[in-house]
Amino acid sequence: MHTWGSTSTLAVLISIIIMVSVTVSWSVLVNTKVMLPCHHPALLKADSMAWVIILRDKPPCTRAYRRDKNETLEQNCTDNRITWTFRPEQNFTLQIDPVAITHDGYYGCQIVTTDGNFLLGYHLQVSVAPEVILFQSKNETVVCKAIAGKPAAQISWTPEGDCVTEQECLDNGTVTVQSTCHWADSNVSTVFCSVSHWTGNKSQSIELSQGVRTLKSPMLNLLIILYVKFSIFLAILVIRTFICFQRINGFRA
Ligand SMILES: *[C@@H]1O[C@H](CO)[C@@H](O)[C@H](O)[C@H]1NC(C)=O
Ligand SMILES: *[C@@H]1O[C@H](CO)[C@@H](O)[C@H](O)[C@H]1NC(C)=O
Ligand SMILES: *[C@@H]1O[C@H](CO)[C@@H](O)[C@H](O)[C@H]1NC(C)=O
Ligand SMILES: *[C@@H]1O[C@H](CO)[C@@H](O)[C@H](O)[C@H]1NC(C)=O
Ligand SMILES: *[C@@H]1O[C@H](CO)[C@@H](O)[C@H](O)[C@H]1NC(C)=O
Ligand SMILES: *[C@@H]1O[C@H](CO)[C@@H](O)[C@H](O)[C@H]1NC(C)=O
Ligand SMILES: *[C@@H]1O[C@H](CO)[C@@H](O)[C@H](O)[C@H]1NC(C)=O
Repeated sequence: MHTWGSTSTLAVLISIIIMVSVTVSWSVLVNTKVMLPCHHPALLKADSMAWVIILRDKPPCTRAYRRDKNETLEQNCTDNRITWTFRPEQNFTLQIDPVAITHDGYYGCQIVTTDGNFLLGYHLQVSVAPEVILFQSKNETVVCKAIAGKPAAQISWTPEGDCVTEQECLDNGTVTVQSTCHWADSNVSTVFCSVSHWTGNKSQSIELSQGVRTLKSPMLNLLIILYVKFSIFLAILVIRTFICFQRINGFRA
């Protein structure tokens, strides 16, 4: 790929008035390979075309092709995960492999022809599946967490409980959602936490030990008491037998 020294040439290429413009929103899963096609009949007679990539906290990156000179140029493009499998006349697909959270942004494909100019834009949103955990905490509540998802996940419960839901935004743009619940109805023995997210829904269940304790504790206590009593009884029996045996021996001696 040849890099032109002149910024002004590039500015002319990308500032030409747009006649037809289409923008689509795309959600993709993080760590996958993403293809952004730029197919248009106008490409066949394009004088020039360019990809403009606008990401947060980065200068705009431009990759352009000029047919009359059969030359490509690029500026501010430093991310080697974004490649342009460039074949003039047929293929202007932009490839991102693997896609990361930092690839959230705008990707525009501009085609300049004598008949008019075309712009195909993509608003790319990179999604991350949250990690789901469900546990019972010491204070008689059950906590369901959807960790580091993007966008934020939705948490719902079956049966519905008395819940407090909190969100924590992490530095990398992911969100942890935590729902803490308790159930006043002592009949409730198993609860389900459902996490709905664009990347797929997940459900987990947990048995409330609260119910288990009230049912089984008295029985267990009784067993412990019986066991302790029996042990003491046995010990006394052994000691008595021993003393008795000693006496008999002493008597014989
Ligand atoms: C390259 O980045 C600078 C700012 O850092 C910006 O002014 C310039 O327009 C960018 N070039 C292109 C072709 O987008
Ligand atoms: C344009 O340049 C590429 C190499 O950069 C070459 O393979 C191709 O044949 C050229 N096409 C034309 C039409 O000159
Ligand atoms: C364009 O290139 C991509 C990646 O190399 C390929 O998957 C796709 O099939 C190509 N499309 C056409 C129309 O050639
Ligand atoms: C119970 O514990 C969870 C986590 O361990 C906490 O988030 C929640 O605020 C606690 N609830 C009460 C009522 O103390
Ligand atoms: C985002 O940040 C959190 C907390 O630092 C981390 O656990 C998580 O793996 C990060 N996610 C991605 C996709 O980088
Ligand atoms: C508790 O459960 C039993 C059987 O599952 C049901 O018959 C009863 O109505 C429930 N009680 C309450 C208060 O929900
Ligand atoms: C996930 O759950 C939501 C609401 O709970 C539902 O609208 C959506 O269809 C579910 N998605 C899948 C893939 O099951």
